[in-house]
Amino acid sequence: MNVLSSIKSFGLAAVLAGFALSVGAAVESAADRTKPVGEVCMAGDPCAAAVVASSGEPRNGEQVYSTKCFTCHATGAAGAPKTGDAAIWSTRLAAHGKDGLYEHAIKGFNAMPAKGLCMDCSDDEIKHAVDYMLDHSK
Ligand code: HEC
Repeated sequence: MNVLSSIKSFGLAAVLAGFALSVGAAVESAADRTKPVGEVCMAGDPCAAAVVASSGEPRNGEQVYSTKCFTCHATGAAGAPKTGDAAIWSTRLAAHGKDGLYEHAIKGFNAMPAKGLCMDCSDDEIKHAVDYMLDHSK
C-alpha cells in the first residue's frame, strides 16, 4: 500500500487501480475513478452519472436506472411504481406482461414519459433498466 500510494500519479493511477483491484487492495481514489460503475456506484450516486456520461459503451440496466429512472421510480414521484415495491410490480407485470412493460417504458404510458426522458437511450438500454427495476422489486 505505501509503495502504491507514494508512486501514484495521474498517469499511473489507472494501471495501479487495475493492479490493486486484481489483488483486492484498496487504492480508494484511483479505484473509484476506474472501477466499472456497477461495482462502486449505488443507484442514485452522482458517480454513476459521471461514468455513464463519459462512456460510449451501451449502458447496463443499473446505469440507466440510476441516472434516468430513479428520479421518479425511487420515490414514486408522479405516481410512478416504486422500485422495491414487489406488490405493485407483480400487479403490473401480471396486467401488462413483460413486453407490455417494455413497450410502455419505451413509448410512454400516462405520466410515464417515453424512454423515461432518456432520449439517447436505445430500446435495449430501456429494457435493461426495466429488468433492473423488476429484479429489485421481488
Ligand atoms: C418523470 C418521471 C418518470 C421517469 C423519469 C421514469 N418514469 Fe417510469 N413511470 C412513471 C410514472 C408516473 C409511471 C406510472 C404510469 C401509469 O401507470 O399511469 C411509470 C411507469 C413505468 C413502468 C410501468 C409501465 C406499466 O405498464 O405499468 C415502467 C416499466 C417504467 N415506468 C419504466 C421506466 C424506465 C425504464 C425509466 C428510465 C429509463 C423510467 N420509467 C423513468 C414516471 C417516470
